[in-house]
Amino acid sequence: MLLKWAGGKSWLTNNHKQIFHSQESLISRAFNNHPSIEYKRYIEPFLGGGAVFKYLKPVNKSILSDINDELIGFYNCLKYKPKELYLCTQNHMMSHCEDYYYEIRAKNNLEDEIKKASRFLYLNRTCYNGIYRVNSKGQFNVPIGDSKDFNASEKEFIKYSKMLSKAEIKNEDFRISINKAKENDLIFVDPPYVTKSNESSFDMYSANQFDWSAQEELSEILEAKNKEGSHIIVTNINDKDICKLYDKKNGWQHKPINRANVMSYDSQGVKYKEVVISNI
Ligand SMILES: C[S@@+](CC[C@H](N)C(=O)[O-])C[C@H]1O[C@@H](n2cnc3c(N)ncnc32)[C@H](O)[C@@H]1O
Repeated sequence: MLLKWAGGKSWLTNNHKQIFHSQESLISRAFNNHPSIEYKRYIEPFLGGGAVFKYLKPVNKSILSDINDELIGFYNCLKYKPKELYLCTQNHMMSHCEDYYYEIRAKNNLEDEIKKASRFLYLNRTCYNGIYRVNSKGQFNVPIGDSKDFNASEKEFIKYSKMLSKAEIKNEDFRISINKAKENDLIFVDPPYVTKSNESSFDMYSANQFDWSAQEELSEILEAKNKEGSHIIVTNINDKDICKLYDKKNGWQHKPINRANVMSYDSQGVKYKEVVISNI
């Protein structure tokens, strides 16, 4: 939603829609009716750019969360003050140049929610590769990138604000938000891609702590929710240690995939870099 986010899943919603739909709902989508898999509430504990929430447009209550407090501040501002956020972001975009970028980047202790959120969006859209990285003092330190292509309209901001109207948007750790899930809720889980052999492979969210033990703990919490009857979809690296965390005997299906559009799965999953693990 308006952001460029490292590890964002729009490639998944563009190229692998079948993951989010029953066969029946895929057919109805073809007739412009958009039901998806049946669920009560939607829970996304590693929200980032929110590509899957944006795709599913849940009609009931959602719980959206992430450990990044600036990101969550931005979404709450988008939800409650879309017009003000639009205007403030437009002003940044119109002034954009190298000096202006570094001047705004240096303003890291703003108090006003709209100014903070528009700074966050402006830096995200103009920094190098949409990376979010902060130094030891928590100050954003990504250099300027070469993209200036942000032209979202006020209408778009208002559309996202409406989409978020039934969402509770929280700055919290995945352990807290996943534990809120109940029977028939849908949990979409997209953690940082950390493996047992490479815990530092993903240095794009430097304010966060997510290592192999977090990856293990995540699978344990999800196993408990699996037993309680939540619907769960996890995306991750197609790695043998990751796959071992989700036992097929407990109802987990492993679907190796590539970013490109492929409708069928290789049973060995040899050449597929990512995997979708789900119990639906
Ligand atoms: C792969 S990204 C999610 C991308 C998202 N699915 C999208 O489409 O843009 C992973 C997210 O997990 C968040 N994160 C890292 N550690 C976390 C933790 N312990 N609890 C909650 N969120 C965390 C990061 O801030 C980052 O936004």
